[in-house]
Amino acid sequence: MAGTVEPIRVIPYERRFERDLVEICWRTGLMGETLEGTGRFEDRKLFALRFVLQFPRTWPDTCWVAVRGEAGRERAVGYIVGTVDAKAQARAAKSFFGWRWRILLRLYALTWWRHPESFRQSRSFGGSRAREIWADPEYRETDYPACLHMNLLPDCQGQGAGTRLMAALIEELRRRGVPGLHLGTSDRNVKAVPFYKKMGFRLVRETEGEFWKGAPAHGLDFALKL
Ligand SMILES: CC(C)(COP(=O)(O)OP(=O)(O)OC[C@H]1O[C@@H](n2cnc3c(N)ncnc32)[C@H](O)[C@@H]1OP(=O)(O)O)[C@@H](O)C(=O)NCCC(=O)NCCS
Repeated sequence: MAGTVEPIRVIPYERRFERDLVEICWRTGLMGETLEGTGRFEDRKLFALRFVLQFPRTWPDTCWVAVRGEAGRERAVGYIVGTVDAKAQARAAKSFFGWRWRILLRLYALTWWRHPESFRQSRSFGGSRAREIWADPEYRETDYPACLHMNLLPDCQGQGAGTRLMAALIEELRRRGVPGLHLGTSDRNVKAVPFYKKMGFRLVRETEGEFWKGAPAHGLDFALKL
């Protein structure tokens, strides 16, 4: 109906939402801001393959989407993707036969000629920073084995959808008896940091780093006991 804003619903992830995830990821993936107009990572699918798609493709049962639109024809406007086994995720992300071959295939079969700038950046980037909080003896892997990523399109933020996405994941993790959950963000994610604190997460580690060239940021690791 003209003039009315469709309500946002939270529903379990389905593969039909993958395209929406690619778009959301790209429009919010530069530490909470859009990559549009920055000249970074013009190959959107490659960007999503690196940072998000491994979760819904491997662990769809711990992924949810915030959607708008009528049932069966919804469009995803946000997501939370997680896994109960972050260590396995990190291993698969690094392993050629686990997840990396998909990224390399895309990079060399398509990105290098279609998006030469993305190709150059992806090669110099060298993979996401190790965010294995269990490398720190104080935060044992067994305490916080699950991890997550979440993003909402700008016009869908600040309306409680993030809270509902987080509640869906936490409820499922508790149902499975998972003891804790962690995530990595940065001090430049100015919306995410207060959000995670409000959700009860505790800051457990700060690291200096550079997410991308020319984008210095303190890495922040948050953890939540369930
Ligand atoms: C971070 C994010 C997931 C939060 O989801 P959201 O739907 O916007 O958050 P909610 O509306 O559920 O807000 C819950 C609480 O979080 C805090 N919060 C949310 N947005 C905030 C903002 N912009 N500034 C300060 N606090 C904020 C508030 O405490 C809020 O509670 P309140 O409304 O009672 O004050 C969402 O804003 C987002 O996707 N941001 C851009 C992408 C991003 O940074 N993702 C995280 C990457 S690590």
